[in-house]
Amino acid sequence: MAVQISPSILSADFARLADEAARVPNADWLHVDVMDNHFVPNLTLGLPVVEALRKATSTPLDCHLMIEDPDRWAPAYAEAGAGSVTIHAEAAKAPVRTLRQIRSLGARAGFALNPGTAVEPYAGLLGEIDMLLIMTVEPGFGGQRFLDLVLPKVRAARELISRHGGEVWLQVDGGVSGETIERCAAAGADVFVAGNAVYGAEDPGAAIDHLRGLAGGVSR
Ligand code: DX5
Ligand code: ZN
Repeated sequence: MAVQISPSILSADFARLADEAARVPNADWLHVDVMDNHFVPNLTLGLPVVEALRKATSTPLDCHLMIEDPDRWAPAYAEAGAGSVTIHAEAAKAPVRTLRQIRSLGARAGFALNPGTAVEPYAGLLGEIDMLLIMTVEPGFGGQRFLDLVLPKVRAARELISRHGGEVWLQVDGGVSGETIERCAAAGADVFVAGNAVYGAEDPGAAIDHLRGLAGGVSR
C-alpha cells in the first residue's frame, strides 16, 4: 500500500487558493471540502470554485461532498474534472447509481462514513467503490480533535477490503497530524487527509513529507 497525502484546502487561505495549491507540489491530491450548511453546519464552496481550481493546478482534486443531495450533484463534480468524488453514506439515497455515474464520468468513486456509521452494512458495495473514507471527526470543521474511537472501524474496514480482494483505498479525514497519523496507518489507512497539520505549518510541503514519512514507517 502506497501512502498518499491529501492536504485539505479548508485550512488554506480561500482568497488565494491557486497559490495555496502551489505551496504543496508534493501532495498526491488536493482535498476539497464541499459543505452545504444542511448535511453539516458549515458552508464552504461548490462547483464554480472546483472548476476554477481545476484549471489553476495540476494536482488532482479529491472532492469530499458533505452535502444533502449527493445523488444530484456528484456527477457534476466528476464532469468538472475532479479526480475523485466522495459521497456520504448518510446522505446518498441511491449510492450504487451515483457511484457508477462518478466512475463512468472518469473519476474515482469515494464513499464516506461518519464516526457513528458502521462499515459492515456497506461491505456489499465495495465493488462499486474506489476509496472508502472513514471520518475521524464529525464532519463540518477543520482543526477538530481526532476521534480514537473510530480506529477499530478503520481496522474492520481494512479487513473487509482485504477479504473483498479488489483495490479500494482507505482514507481517513479529521484530526490527522504528526500525533495521530501512525495510529491510522497501523489500523490500515493508506490515504491521509490533513488540513491544519499541513496548512497550519510554516512550510506545508515539509509538513507533507513529515506525515508521509511517519505513515510510511509503520509496519502493517
Ligand atoms: C472536516 C473535513 C476535513 C477537514 C480536516 O469536516 O472533512 O477534510 O478539513 O481538517 P483537519 O485535518 O484540520 O482536521
Ligand atoms: Zn474532508
